[in-house]
Amino acid sequence: MAPQQKTLKDLKNKKLLHDQSFINGEWVNSASGKSTFDVVDPATLDKLATLPEMDKEDVKLAVNAAHEAFKTYKKTTARQRARMLRKWSDLCHENVDDLALIMTLENGKTLAESKGEVIYGASFLEWFATQAEMTHGEVVPVANPNQRIVTFKQPLGVAACLAPWNFPIAMITRKCGAALAAGCTTVWKPAGETPLSALAQAVLAEEAGFPKGSINVITSLTTVAEVGQELCENPKVHKLSFTGSTRVGKLLMQQSASTLKKLSLELGGNSPFIVFNDAKMETAVEAAVLAKFRNSGQTCVTANRIFVQSGVYDEFAKQLTERVKKMKVGAGTEEGVFVGPLTHDRAVEKAMSHINDAKKHGGQVLFGGEPMEGMGKGYFFQPTVITEMNTKMLTTREETFAPVIGLYRFETEDEVIDLANDCDVGLGSFVMTENMARSWRVAEALEVGMVGINVGMLSACESPFGGVKGSGFGREGGTQGINEYLTVKSMFINVAS
Ligand code: SIN
Repeated sequence: MAPQQKTLKDLKNKKLLHDQSFINGEWVNSASGKSTFDVVDPATLDKLATLPEMDKEDVKLAVNAAHEAFKTYKKTTARQRARMLRKWSDLCHENVDDLALIMTLENGKTLAESKGEVIYGASFLEWFATQAEMTHGEVVPVANPNQRIVTFKQPLGVAACLAPWNFPIAMITRKCGAALAAGCTTVWKPAGETPLSALAQAVLAEEAGFPKGSINVITSLTTVAEVGQELCENPKVHKLSFTGSTRVGKLLMQQSASTLKKLSLELGGNSPFIVFNDAKMETAVEAAVLAKFRNSGQTCVTANRIFVQSGVYDEFAKQLTERVKKMKVGAGTEEGVFVGPLTHDRAVEKAMSHINDAKKHGGQVLFGGEPMEGMGKGYFFQPTVITEMNTKMLTTREETFAPVIGLYRFETEDEVIDLANDCDVGLGSFVMTENMARSWRVAEALEVGMVGINVGMLSACESPFGGVKGSGFGREGGTQGINEYLTVKSMFINVAS
């Protein structure tokens, strides 16, 4: 393997790098001082940093700080909040190379993808700056002639934002940008695998002017259950937003019941990617590459079940395999790499178990199918194409979350809609067709939160992101995103003379 080209020592803005939690404007260790955890580079397994494992008592301190800060932050004007959000976005752009390097080193995605994510993450800050100023209540006509009703929106209070490791910046800004725009104060819990990106965001947010206590960041890897439970059960937290697995989402919902928190849960997906006979082949192949291999197959909307109509099945498989064969695998810091390492060893195990299971049930591996050899200790996996997939296989029910693409064959539109909907989750989906009427019909019939027609990506700050069924509820981004952090109050006014 070529040597890693860059390390954290190459950061230009050293202020971005922190190895402590951030509570009430201070960089701190756990009050108990009991334990720490290491953040490692998944390309080399080299240690990047050692951070404090925060516990329940530390979470209480963070929540108390956010609760105290809310008393004054809620009185800021939308214009003031919008200015800080725009400044924060500008700072992301100014520091794009450093932020991308931190992300690539802790997550594994390529530098090009990391830069894309920094820009995407910053776009939520700009978007919510605008939303802050555009969000308002209404004057409601009322039957009683002596009364008027006015509604206005108010921030919920302290918002806990639990972000995943696959988008270490964009999921922070998508949640916390909305919360801060609404006038909420925040406690962030980034994933234990990728806290450095979130801590760098806290540095920039503070520089942008967000006041002490409005942003608090809790670092945790093995104490995550205790930290999550405290955030759910603490009565001073009024909103919790989580992106992660359906299993953990259900647990957080149970734990939040005692305090009746408002929740947004963006949970697991199992996205269908449907290629009809009338699709443009080149568009379909490129969209599949993006939908499956972006972030090494580790996006929540990754194409997991690829349904290809029989008339184009063989040609699609051939062209896709040609494309996949050209993908360079390596450390995200290396030039020309398309597929970086997986973030976890568990992901490698899961990919292998899905491939073995597919083979057992008749799947044909056209390319790949194994972890990469001779690339050191990192979690590298061969981009893999499997054909002759069928519904007996594990991949039908579970996301693989790796650069492994399996092709199912179908005959009719009705059949593929049934196949796609025969699933207990519904987040993203992709439909490849040149027939406009069909694209509408299928988009309406799919039980999902998002549909891409002839595109391989569903990422835009302007669009609401979220799912149905076991993929959870609530929407992030779009005009809906800010409302997740607001409550509507109505005021009755007596106008009788
Ligand atoms: C996700 O996978 O949750 C985020 C994907 C995106 O916003 O592009």
